[in-house]
Amino acid sequence: MRTQVGIVGAGPAGLLLAQVLHNAGIESVVLEVRSREYVERRIRAGVLEQGSVDLLQSAGLGERMQREGLVHHGIELRFEGEGHRVAMSELTGGRTITVYGQTEVVKDAIAAREQAGCPPLFEVSDVTVADLETVRPVIRYRNEDGPQELQCDVISGCDGFHGICRQAFPPGSLTVRERGYPFGWLGILADVAPSTDELIYAYHERGFAMHSLRSPTLSRLYLQCEPDDDIANWPDDRIWEELHRRLARNDGWTLAEGTILEKGITPMRSFVAEPMRHGQLFLAGDAAHIVPPTGAKGLNLAIADIRLLSDALIAFYADGDRRRLDSYSDDCLRRVWRAQHFSWWMTSMLHRFPDSDPFSEELQLSQLRYVVSSPAAATSLAENYVGLERV
Ligand code: APR
Ligand code: PHB
Repeated sequence: MRTQVGIVGAGPAGLLLAQVLHNAGIESVVLEVRSREYVERRIRAGVLEQGSVDLLQSAGLGERMQREGLVHHGIELRFEGEGHRVAMSELTGGRTITVYGQTEVVKDAIAAREQAGCPPLFEVSDVTVADLETVRPVIRYRNEDGPQELQCDVISGCDGFHGICRQAFPPGSLTVRERGYPFGWLGILADVAPSTDELIYAYHERGFAMHSLRSPTLSRLYLQCEPDDDIANWPDDRIWEELHRRLARNDGWTLAEGTILEKGITPMRSFVAEPMRHGQLFLAGDAAHIVPPTGAKGLNLAIADIRLLSDALIAFYADGDRRRLDSYSDDCLRRVWRAQHFSWWMTSMLHRFPDSDPFSEELQLSQLRYVVSSPAAATSLAENYVGLERV
């Protein structure tokens, strides 16, 4: 089989790339190891920057997002028993964020691929990439009919952090920069109307907590936990008790409880692999970089990579212009490092570190008080949170 662009991975990065290329008349094939049901059920992030919303819309994926997405103008930072609103829109000339689950973005994109007559190939196995330094790179994989080979002009590695594409770079050609954190996030999806209109990020001596949402009837909440914590340590009662404590406010605000539909623990990591290209293989999204979720940047970075990669491929197929493909990695990494800094900074300000001391704790609180009282500091947080246009 032959295609123009071979795409490994049907997460938001791979699916959006296929969609944008299709709209520009460029052929692609998306290969995915998991089943469609699995990919459509996986619960992930939920915050879209304006620029991400714009790209999804211009790609023809905005119809349900426009109806069901919740447009937010601010977030709350909660500490010392008080809530402080960061008025993001006021501070950024009217920019907003949209709360719409990554799961929903993925469902919309799969439906669009299906409607266009080229759905992703799900449940393939033994995926490998080869001949990357040639003009005919190949993807080999196995489906129910046996071993297959897909010849491409270009391969895009959109296969997430645990994928195979980054591993296919020759030894020594990748530089990895990373940082681990001594905690994880326990996330729940609860069948209850959110107790807040805006996202709450709470710093508490027992650890970070967060109240997010998915719809008028579904809440998404997080608790800082041990990095290697076992979900079996967290019966539902303990989760709610801990959320009540960490989210408590002095003015009598209350948290409504509901049935927990999903729960899971995610480790926290900052990771960048550079460069994001080797020969005709281009990495995008989590395959190349991971951020801790505190800045809500993971999904937005994946979408920003695809904007650059699709523009570069469209220019290449229009008249053979390779300049944007050649600068792809550098162009992405500028934004990636800005998001890395912001995500690390939010994470450091809002979590309780196990090796912390009273000095560090006072620094964290002082930083929080500064962010909510100084318009300059609040603007800095807000413009990063809604997404910088220029990086
Ligand atoms: N072959 C084919 N597909 C693969 C392979 C492989 N060898 N390995 C992994 N995959 C698939 C995964 O099953 C997954 O569906 O690649 C997809 C990668 O999708 P994501 O992990 O969602 O990554 P990405 O599209 O870059 O989106 C980044 O996901 O983890 C969140 O916070 C992150 O919001 C960000 C977003
Ligand atoms: C979410 O809704 O899942 C979410 C929101 C904001 C974050 C992280 C996760 O910073």
